[in-house]
Amino acid sequence: MRLLPWALCISIAGTALLAKPPPRVEATLIFTGDIRGYLAPCGCTQPQVGGIERMAGVVRALLKQRNAHYVDLGNWTEVGGRQDELKAEALAEVFAGLKPAYLNVGPLDARLGPEYLRSLSDAVGGVVDSANLNLGGATPGRRGRAVGDSIWVQGLVADRDAERIGSPLRSVAEAVSPPPSTRRQVLLFAADLKEADALAREFPHVSLIVYSTRGDPPASPVRVGKTALVSVGDKARYVGKIDLVDGEWTNFTLIELGPEHAHDPAAAEAYRAYTNRVAEEGLLDDLLRSKGKVKFVGSRECAVCHIGEDSKWLETRHAKALATLVQTGNDRDPECVGCHVVGLNYESGFRGAPSTPELANVGCESCHGPGGEHVFDPTVKMGVAGEESCMTCHETAHSPEFDFKSYWEKIKH
Ligand code: HEC
Ligand code: HEC
Ligand code: HEC
Ligand code: HEC
Repeated sequence: MRLLPWALCISIAGTALLAKPPPRVEATLIFTGDIRGYLAPCGCTQPQVGGIERMAGVVRALLKQRNAHYVDLGNWTEVGGRQDELKAEALAEVFAGLKPAYLNVGPLDARLGPEYLRSLSDAVGGVVDSANLNLGGATPGRRGRAVGDSIWVQGLVADRDAERIGSPLRSVAEAVSPPPSTRRQVLLFAADLKEADALAREFPHVSLIVYSTRGDPPASPVRVGKTALVSVGDKARYVGKIDLVDGEWTNFTLIELGPEHAHDPAAAEAYRAYTNRVAEEGLLDDLLRSKGKVKFVGSRECAVCHIGEDSKWLETRHAKALATLVQTGNDRDPECVGCHVVGLNYESGFRGAPSTPELANVGCESCHGPGGEHVFDPTVKMGVAGEESCMTCHETAHSPEFDFKSYWEKIKH
């Protein structure tokens, strides 16, 4: 009997909970952007963060929620050579599998040209667009796209970029029209926070702006009046998510793509196909190389006279650096090979494992410089190797823990 008041309380609390309807998520926007060609983390250091394989896995899982929609801000790749086209095609394949609602064209993508962009758009169901860029074709730069029941999405680039690329269709101010009906307006604006802030002030009715950041993005939305401004940073290291609940954007989450995230099988397949194409098209052979008298001969030539140094070197990871790339499938990838072999940027340097096996791996001459003269005449001095000779490869992005004293200790000879 003494328990009764408690039982009563619990039942009242229970009713109260039941009485309040759970907040309704009208839409969930999942977004990426500024991938900038970072399809995979290089793997040079642990833990690795990022990459489209994890990105696709996370997006696919989030898309299982009701009313969830996926968009990308643009800037798929960085430079604009053949390798970037191959990257863009791999990305198009990954995007296509994620059924995106809108893929904005960033200023970097626009360099690929309208025709190329149209072919990419065809590959992803026609959702590559930008409201203020002239992409040619039948429907140049539609103004926007109704997404789900509650939002209206428009992609944009800054006016100055549209002009620089040479294909402005209309100004940003002309493009940002109020949405039809009562949908919330979402802008994918491939420009920085300052520009996004100015846009939010000019168009206070806009409810959400996804903008571009280099490096890490702010952990919470920037609020300008009633507009929320969010970003995911660059290099495919995060996936962003935000919910529209009772007309307000809330629950902003940045999901860091660390090793705990599984690789999406379809994206992994697309990445593998990409590295195969990089190898098959022989991009490594097309590299520009410095000419000149510099002559690399390979570590075997040095071993003849420097037996002690050689046996020490053979024990180090330097001596297996190309095998590492064979394992990851990047052994013919110009973006990787340079730091894992000898003299890639020189006429007499590494060409490929079949033609120049002696220059595979990080060899004696990677640090001591070309030995073509010294091998015939040891009185011709080799350069003095030291800390500077390590830094071309052990730079922050690829070897953040590098410390000359402790690293040298491991390879000293
Ligand atoms: C700027 C030079 C540089 C480039 C470019 C580079 N690497 Fe490396 N890589 C390194 C260095 C230096 C290390 C050793 C890092 C350390 O231990 O501090 C390394 C280590 C690695 C390792 C780790 C080996 C292990 O067993 O831990 C992998 C894997 C790797 N690189 C793959 C790649 C791939 C794939 C690419 C191209 C996408 C690439 N690297 C591009 C310099 C580079
Ligand atoms: C041509 C590029 C290059 C140069 C120059 C270079 N390294 Fe490396 N280093 C690498 C790569 C690539 C790896 C990773 C190899 C692998 O595991 O595949 C590596 C790995 C290492 C490792 C192994 C790390 C570990 O955790 O076991 C040490 C130590 C190291 N380097 C020290 C040095 C030092 C000291 C210098 C300068 C005197 C130097 N390296 C110069 C590319 C270079
Ligand atoms: C990762 C970079 C690196 C690699 C690879 C490397 N060395 Fe060295 N080596 C150095 C550094 C740094 C020193 C110490 C500074 C110096 O004396 O130049 C050194 C010292 C030497 C010295 C002694 C120089 C002296 O004046 O006493 C010789 C000889 C030498 N290395 C030969 C070789 C040979 C042969 C190989 C290949 C089998 C090799 N090294 C591979 C970085 C390297
Ligand atoms: C024919 C034998 C021979 C070959 C081959 C040879 N060396 Fe040497 N090396 C010597 C001798 C002898 C010295 C010592 C020269 C002196 O003390 O004046 C030396 C000295 C050096 C030094 C110390 C600095 C200097 O120039 O005195 C380095 C570093 C070095 N060699 C690296 C290499 C590398 C790297 C290779 C391969 C590209 C190589 N050597 C090939 C015989 C050779």
